[in-house]
Amino acid sequence: MGPLTLPIVMSLLFCAAQGSPQLRRANDRQGQCAYTFTVPSPREGTCTEPGEAMTAIRELQRENAAVRQETDATKTRLSLLEKVVNRLLGGEATGESTSSSQSSAHAQVEVQRLRLEKDEWESQRGSLEMAYSDLLKEKSSLEEEKQRLTERLEKAQQKQCPQVDETSRNRDQPIPSRQGVGLSGAGSHGGVPRTSSGQGKGGPSELSRWGADGVGYQELKSELTALPASRMLPESQGSEKMGKPGCGELTWVGEPTTFRKADNIAGKYGVWMRDPEPVSPFTLDTVWRINTVGADIRQVFEYENVDQLVKGYPAKVYVVPRSMESNGAVVYKGSIYYARRKSRIIVKYDFKTETVAIQKELVDAGFHGKYPYSWGGYTDIDLAVDELGLWAIYSTENTKGSIVISRLDPATLEVKQSWNTTIRKSSVANAFMVCGTLYTVASYSSPTTTINFAFDTHTGVQKALSVPFKNLYGYNSMVDYNPTEKKIYGWDNYNMVAYDVRLSKM
Ligand SMILES: *[C@@H]1O[C@H](CO)[C@@H](O)[C@H](O)[C@H]1NC(C)=O
Repeated sequence: MGPLTLPIVMSLLFCAAQGSPQLRRANDRQGQCAYTFTVPSPREGTCTEPGEAMTAIRELQRENAAVRQETDATKTRLSLLEKVVNRLLGGEATGESTSSSQSSAHAQVEVQRLRLEKDEWESQRGSLEMAYSDLLKEKSSLEEEKQRLTERLEKAQQKQCPQVDETSRNRDQPIPSRQGVGLSGAGSHGGVPRTSSGQGKGGPSELSRWGADGVGYQELKSELTALPASRMLPESQGSEKMGKPGCGELTWVGEPTTFRKADNIAGKYGVWMRDPEPVSPFTLDTVWRINTVGADIRQVFEYENVDQLVKGYPAKVYVVPRSMESNGAVVYKGSIYYARRKSRIIVKYDFKTETVAIQKELVDAGFHGKYPYSWGGYTDIDLAVDELGLWAIYSTENTKGSIVISRLDPATLEVKQSWNTTIRKSSVANAFMVCGTLYTVASYSSPTTTINFAFDTHTGVQKALSVPFKNLYGYNSMVDYNPTEKKIYGWDNYNMVAYDVRLSKM
């Protein structure tokens, strides 16, 4: 923006409205354009609630404030731009600048430029609005969840009200590191390097400060909803032996290493990973990333390597033809597999040809908030890759919310085989596959949680585990294993992290 200093009149009404947020544009008395973004006032909770749900709601309220701030800034800018455009157009119309044809031409160029800039801000405003309405939806589902939790907690005779201490966990942000996911082979395929667009200003920089208050609660929830392992009946024997090289049982997960923090609210949740079996022109270094906050998740960022991710320079941005739901997507053998928004249809999109290779319904799978993980976010269908191939982790009405694992044929998306577990999907924070075994994470928010169940598809045996697992930033929305690197990738509250793992020798 040039050295233009114009008075701006903003009328901001952020309270007392009902229902969904609205954006209005109107001229005020001075004839200036005012943008008004009206949202419902966040309700204050009272303190007789379980700590985790309360903390979650406060977190969302803080985020509401952050989104509002961003929207404010956008509005200010829009008003200013509109004013300038009007003035320049007005000047032209009244012949103010006819004294000099040069200045007229200059004004036209300026108007053109400002219009482009305005369009850009308009589109950013659109995505902010979408992100905002998603957050509101999430807030109301959290409130429902809070209600359910309260009832259950009372039943469990746990009548304490844990203290919510928001100031005690103010961490320093770790410096992004490039160590730890080093694989050889410099990627050098073509692709027009360009800076990532649409990345606004800092966004909500405030890291969440989840207290340990919700921790015990999360674990309790798991205990209450999972049946004892002794009730399990071994099901069909797996058709494949566990003899894959380097395979074993998960025994240890390391400290998370942070690689990058997303710039704005769209990156609170997301997917980032490397393809364990890339096909040309992609390499083992290629990094894939998707920000998954918003109603129309279609952009997939490709980075030549992790350095480029850290610097924020994508090699290419793909726009998939159908929106994806939440962050269950995986990249495998040069394609991305994802669940379509509000649907149980799995889509395979090929990056090389930039086309949908195939799509197929995942029969009976619950979707769009029916059987999400405990953190919510429409995580009904979670795809996974391990040493044996492609898997879907989901639930169905028949299994009443318990996790079902299906092994998929990556070419046809047919279900090759399915297994029923008795792990309630909504009682765990996330799940991933390693060597044909499903592992679940107990909590998405606790800084020190555990991998709490394992279900071996070779034997059909489920057992309880307690492998320590860290959520560094208090809101880990994605946990996916990479069988080639033997690493877990995570997306924890804007932060792209990775963990080393150890498997036992077979
Ligand atoms: C899983 O359980 C459901 C409901 O009892 C049943 O219909 C289905 O056949 C089971 N699937 C497997 C693979 O055992």
